Amino acid sequence: MKPGEAAAATHPPQPDFVSGAHIDAAAYEAMYRQSVEDPEGFWGEHGKRLDWIKPYTEVKNTSFRMGEVEIHWFRDGTLNVAANCIDRHLKTRGDQTAIVFVPDDPGDPVRHITYRELHEKVNRMANVLLSQGVMRGDRVVIYMPMIPEAAYAMLACARIGAIHSVVFAGFSADGLANRINDCGAKVVITADSAPRGGRKTALKSNTDAALLHCSDRVRCMVVKHTGDQTSWIQGRDVDVLQLMEHASPDCPPRELASEHPLFILYTSGSTGKPKGVVHSSGGYLAYAAMTHEYTFDYHEGDVFWCTADVGWVTGHSYIVYGPLANGATTVMFEGVPTYPDAGRMWQICQDLKVNQFYTAPTVIRALMGQGTDWVEKYDLSSLKVLGSVGEPINPEAWEWYNAHVGKGRCPIVDTWWQTETGGHLLTPLPGATATKPGSATKPFFGVQPVVLEAESGKEIDSTEAEGVLCIKDSWPGQMRTVWGDHDRFQETYFSHYKGYYFSGDGCRRDADGYYWVTGRVDDVINVSGHRMGTAEVESALVAHQAVAEAAVVGYPHEIKGQGIYAYVTLMNGVEATEELRKELEKWVRTEIGPIAKPDIIQWAPGLPKTRSGKIMRRILRKIAENDFGSLGDISTLADPSVVDELINNRMNRG
Ligand code: WT7
Repeated sequence: MKPGEAAAATHPPQPDFVSGAHIDAAAYEAMYRQSVEDPEGFWGEHGKRLDWIKPYTEVKNTSFRMGEVEIHWFRDGTLNVAANCIDRHLKTRGDQTAIVFVPDDPGDPVRHITYRELHEKVNRMANVLLSQGVMRGDRVVIYMPMIPEAAYAMLACARIGAIHSVVFAGFSADGLANRINDCGAKVVITADSAPRGGRKTALKSNTDAALLHCSDRVRCMVVKHTGDQTSWIQGRDVDVLQLMEHASPDCPPRELASEHPLFILYTSGSTGKPKGVVHSSGGYLAYAAMTHEYTFDYHEGDVFWCTADVGWVTGHSYIVYGPLANGATTVMFEGVPTYPDAGRMWQICQDLKVNQFYTAPTVIRALMGQGTDWVEKYDLSSLKVLGSVGEPINPEAWEWYNAHVGKGRCPIVDTWWQTETGGHLLTPLPGATATKPGSATKPFFGVQPVVLEAESGKEIDSTEAEGVLCIKDSWPGQMRTVWGDHDRFQETYFSHYKGYYFSGDGCRRDADGYYWVTGRVDDVINVSGHRMGTAEVESALVAHQAVAEAAVVGYPHEIKGQGIYAYVTLMNGVEATEELRKELEKWVRTEIGPIAKPDIIQWAPGLPKTRSGKIMRRILRKIAENDFGSLGDISTLADPSVVDELINNRMNRG
């Protein structure tokens, strides 16, 4: 069955929800029409949700033409992102909680940080950065646990015009070093260690190891969070919290151009090393704030919880920038969904009276597997809207989320977007859109999705369509370039289908014009909502001395969505042992990080290749899926017998 074919169950918005919602169906239609017919007028108006130092007169200046791609929004305006997320709220919301911090250990106290306190901390941290010689445009890498200091660091950079690059704490020392070097960071901000689920990741010692591969001018700022003993290099390492105590609580926000880069975030693609996705200040913030308000139907006073990590774009847009720009109370949770037990998330929702809850299908599936007792045990009556992000949500998980978490009264918003897009592109609006489980439904304002024929690149006009998902014109939250490599930016997103932004996803549009994203059409896999380039894992594997060749594909995984399946050909004379398998798993963890560890390594005496030497991944994917009946044409293989051998090995593993 194709996605959408079981679309019997549509869930229209409930009348009592609609009456209190920002946007109902008629408003959506009218605003959407204006947003695409008159983007200048529409965004000219909605850009005003931010406080500008110098108001813009130019709204949109964008081109998707290969060779001349450029994207500018509100170009002649100036603003400061931190001032928009903090200072402008002080008058009316100084004593309101900006961030609720929930520590990993349920025995540790929850901390409520008011907007006033946030202001003070961010100013102090900004002054510490200045004292370390960080200037406008300098890059600062942030490698931190999910603690308020991570948000302070991001906002402190924004305040002084430094460009932050948050590296997820699950990346290894090598992964960290590559990112520090690629963006030429002057400073890395880290913590002693990161507790998660009762276990700790030694961030400082990973940073020490990373910095061995970096310029010796890179400074290391350490937040002493757990108090764990770490090594200390005089002259390089500084104690941030101590310096903050002595720093001035005043640091004027710097006036910055709308297009000044706010941050770089590395993400995997189908080829090469991870790309540094560059986001802007004005356009990004306006888009993050607007999607946060409308997608979640956020209202003044609501408590908003996005369970992502700040190391991913979801955490940037929907833990930090979007909610804070809207003056919301945003929850930051350090722990994991199953520690100390599978009721943790629901307990937090109950205790903090969470109104909007935003998580990933992999989390829902994992908790679903623990039974309904955990969720029934807590009072979830504060919840109003539930969100999903990261991968297509399977209808079973959707229905469970709806029935047991939302009790059938909370609209579910399945939001499709990417690191590159800055905010939601396809999403229901809870007061406007009838939902269908598994569909990200309709475009957000200003977004013009198109479905193209994969081969010809022809736009399919009929409502019902199946092909690749592209976007026809720019929206303010769009990435601006790849750090240091604008050619790669154009090549990756604008060269496959001329004049369009290519998302890398396949999709189907049904008779109602609803979009069903079916997953990546390139060599990228989605593991628990984390994007992983197969080429990256392959190059880590072949860097091991025992490995001659490797091919990595995704396969369906019950909890993670996709798992990592690696076919490995060993060097002549190397014996395929269980120890070696373990060693290779550990190797990948060290080279990239725990999130890249292969779920299955299959020894492959040979790989299926065409006569010109190209690995036929299509066949490898089928074998990994245990789908041997539909391998398709294998006559173009240089040696078709490898296929039988791989199938036999696969079957013997059970
Ligand atoms: C890829 C982007 C954007 C935040 C999280 C991941 C997949 C994401 C959905 C969804 C179907 C989805 C796509 C996309 N994806 N959300 N609601 N339905 N697929 O960001 O790491 O940049 O990954 O995640 O394949 O291209 P990312």
